[in-house]
Amino acid sequence: MSILVAGGAGYIGAHVVHDLLDRGEEVVVVDDLSYGDASRIRDAKLVELDVAADGAQRELFNTMVDEDVSAVIHFAARKQVGESVEKPMWYYQQNVGGLANMMSAMRDANVGNMIFSSSAAVYGIPPVSVVEEDIVKTPINPYGETKLIGEWMMADCERAFGLRWIGLRYFNVAGAGSNDLGDPAILNLVPMVLDKVEKGEPAMIFGTDYDTPDGTCVRDYIHVSDLANAHIAALDYLTSGKEMEYHTFNVGTGKGTSVREIVDGLKQVIGRDFAVEELDRRAGDPPQLIGDASRITEVLDWHAQYGVDEILQSAYSAWQQGPRPIA
Ligand code: UFG
Repeated sequence: MSILVAGGAGYIGAHVVHDLLDRGEEVVVVDDLSYGDASRIRDAKLVELDVAADGAQRELFNTMVDEDVSAVIHFAARKQVGESVEKPMWYYQQNVGGLANMMSAMRDANVGNMIFSSSAAVYGIPPVSVVEEDIVKTPINPYGETKLIGEWMMADCERAFGLRWIGLRYFNVAGAGSNDLGDPAILNLVPMVLDKVEKGEPAMIFGTDYDTPDGTCVRDYIHVSDLANAHIAALDYLTSGKEMEYHTFNVGTGKGTSVREIVDGLKQVIGRDFAVEELDRRAGDPPQLIGDASRITEVLDWHAQYGVDEILQSAYSAWQQGPRPIA
C-alpha cells in the first residue's frame, strides 16, 4: 500500500514526503515540477504530471491501481493570491479542475482517504481576529474561493461515495525542516525580507497604521515541520476508521506575531541591523488573522512544537545554503 502525495516535490509537500518515508511508508509523488524539485523527494517514486491536464484523471487512476494507493495528500495547486485575481479562470481550472480529476480517480480506484491543503484564505477578512473553523467564510480572492470550493467538493464526495476527508487550513507557513528544504519562492514576508537584505535594499513593511498593538499586521506563523506533522496526525486519524465529527482544522498556533516583530526577529537572527521602508497598506490584507487551534489539538492531538524564533532561525539557515546567501 502506498500514499499518493500530489505536489510532493514542493516546499510543504516535500516536508511531508520526508516524514512519510521516515516512518516507512511507500510514497508515490505526483508533481508537474513547475515549482517542485525532484531532488527533494529522496527515493520516492515520481510521476511527472499536472493533475489539471487533459487525461490526468486516467493517469491518476492507473497510478492509484498500480501503486496500491490507500490515501491521497493533495497539495498540488496554484497559490498566489495576486495571480489568482489576474487569472481567475486559470485558478479554477487548476485548483478545482485538478481536485476534481483527483477525486474522480479516487472514486474509480476505490481510494477512500483524502487530505486537502486548504487555507486561512477561506476566511477572507474575518469579523474576529482569532478564527474558529465554523465562523462565516467569505474569501476575498479566487485563490481562497478555490480552497473553499475544494472543501465543498470533498463534502459532496463524502455524501456521494463515502470519501473520508480532512481539509487543513494553513495559516502563515515559514521556516525549513532542514537546509535543503527551504522555501524557494520569494512570495511571503520572511523570504521577501531575506531577499531584500541580500540585495542590500530596504525590507518593506506594508502598513503601519492598523488597529493592532504596533500598527502592523498580525499573523499566525507556523513552522513548516509542525505543519507537516499535522498531515501525519490527520492521516492517522483518517485511516483509524474512527467516526469523523469534524473535517476542517485550522493549522495555527492561536498566537499572533506582527510584521514588525518578524522584521526585528530577522535582525536578531542575521545578527545585524538592516534598513526598513514603511510603505502604504497592501490591498486586501486583514489587520489580524490568527487561527484558533483548539479543534486540531483536541481531535488530532496536535499542537505546534516550534515558535517564531525557530521559524526564523531555520528559514535563515536554509536561505544561507541557497544560491544567494546574505554576506
Ligand atoms: N508583508 C510586508 N512586507 C513584505 C511582505 C509581506 O509587510 O515584504 C506583510 C503583508 O502585508 C502581510 C504580512 O506581511 O501583512 C504577511 O504577508 P504574506 O504575504 O507573507 O502572507 P499573507 O498573510 O498575505 O498570506 C499568506 C499566504 C496565503 C494564505 C494566507 C492565509 O501567502 O496563501 O497567508 O492567511 F492565503
